[in-house]
Amino acid sequence: MSDYLEATNDLYRSAAELPDVGLCCTTTPVWQLPQLDIPGIMLEMNYGCGSTVNPRDLVNEPKVLYVGVGGGMELLQFAYFNRHKGGIIGVDVLEEMLEASRRNFKKAEELNSWFKEDFVDLRIGDALNLPIEDETIDVAAQNCVFNIFKLADLRKALQESYRVLKPHGRLVMSDPICEQEMSVELKGDNRLRAMCLTGAIPLSDYIDLITSVGFGTVEIRAKRAYRILDPKHYNTEELIYIESVEVCAIKDPMPQDGPCVFTGKTAIYFGEEKIFDDKKGHLLLQNQPIAICDKTALNLNNLDRSDIFISDSTFFYDGGGCC
Ligand SMILES: C[S@@+](CC[C@H](N)C(=O)[O-])C[C@H]1O[C@@H](n2cnc3c(N)ncnc32)[C@H](O)[C@@H]1O
Repeated sequence: MSDYLEATNDLYRSAAELPDVGLCCTTTPVWQLPQLDIPGIMLEMNYGCGSTVNPRDLVNEPKVLYVGVGGGMELLQFAYFNRHKGGIIGVDVLEEMLEASRRNFKKAEELNSWFKEDFVDLRIGDALNLPIEDETIDVAAQNCVFNIFKLADLRKALQESYRVLKPHGRLVMSDPICEQEMSVELKGDNRLRAMCLTGAIPLSDYIDLITSVGFGTVEIRAKRAYRILDPKHYNTEELIYIESVEVCAIKDPMPQDGPCVFTGKTAIYFGEEKIFDDKKGHLLLQNQPIAICDKTALNLNNLDRSDIFISDSTFFYDGGGCC
């Protein structure tokens, strides 16, 4: 096993045994749902950098796979939407983390009359070699795990997620990203990488990797400030700004002209006709906003029209698209 994966296991073995409240902390509010009572220990062990739980993905009691269980909080939130034995599969590489989440699910059962611990099927396993059959999962999720991986492993983890998803299944992810070049020293610091700090890559590289394994649609659902690495405390000459993103990759067929990546762009046609037809499947109603993917934004821009407005990316896309 690579040194950095060993360092990762060491860090999370400790974090399983003794909750580390500041690890991978997030500004994303924790979901408050009717009759959902999250045990305090799960909140203390919230080692994610965003949320992967979105009710829009969770209609019709989907079979969910969650990779990297941590204290189990998001698995409990997923179980809220699928209340059946084994409806949620949790995979973690560490027996200690599975054991900690098992204890936490018992507490969750005491607090939540609707919840049974057997809704969650906990399995030992690796994101790089998932113990899951092909095409059996509706929604796969990972929060603050894949960013730790070096590029070849990240690609493998994405391929594994793609393999286990049913057609049109969704991979929902939350990870840090960073647009700046980090020093070789920072990149090579296994502990900082394990802490979800220095494995962060630029958003466009992250998206390219996702689409390169076959995901035909990608949605950027949120982008937030995450961390600063400053020269006083870290081995860097400049201030490094890290953000976190929430991304949904959908196992749609790859369009012939490339993936549909939604970063929150919107088009508004304000010409004289009732409708503008771009002859590529998009009808823009006069003065009505339409969410468009970046590819469509580029195509519309290339038409060089003075009666179509295209917004910047908001990095807050929540459905209703052009493709
Ligand atoms: C940063 S924590 C995130 C935990 C959880 N997702 C959350 O949001 O609180 C990383 C988790 O991934 C697990 N992990 C690390 N490497 C893994 C791998 N190769 N395969 C599966 N799980 C892994 C760790 O044991 C830990 O539970």
